[in-house]
Amino acid sequence: MKKYVFTIAMLTVALQGFSQNATKGKVVYDKVCVACHQATALGIPGAFPPLSKSDYLNKDANRAIKGVVKGLTGAITVNGKKFNSAMPAQALSDQQIADVMTYVYSSWGNNKTVVTTAMVKAQRK
Ligand code: HEC
Repeated sequence: MKKYVFTIAMLTVALQGFSQNATKGKVVYDKVCVACHQATALGIPGAFPPLSKSDYLNKDANRAIKGVVKGLTGAITVNGKKFNSAMPAQALSDQQIADVMTYVYSSWGNNKTVVTTAMVKAQRK
């Protein structure tokens, strides 16, 4: 019996840990990313690419993280539309980037990738 109580307690802690990440990520999104990618995550045609159901985002998590960590310039195609602009490197901690990317991946029809601080660290090199 004790064993089960312990297991349930651990599961509760793990689940809370996950939902906290996404909640904290939303705070970062609403403060930082929203200015360009918009509350709808649809971006602005010709200027800011969408994060909503973005094929670019869903295809390669490490590439997406790198753009946020180091900035992104030059021509890219997102959902069949060309963008050729610049995203400045985002001055956020590894934890904040892991949280915000986990939130983005868990929202707007994206593929639910969970982004860890280790994945962010790897892109800082
Ligand atoms: C100052 C405006 C600006 C801010 C703030 C900004 N971005 Fe971007 N973002 C852009 C632009 C512009 C591009 C496309 C760059 C290019 O054309 O090469 C882009 C591209 C991207 C891409 C890859 C393309 C796509 O649509 O999938 C991702 C992912 C992304 N941004 C995530 C974020 C996240 C997460 C934040 C908040 C931490 C953020 N951005 C903050 C302007 C911004």
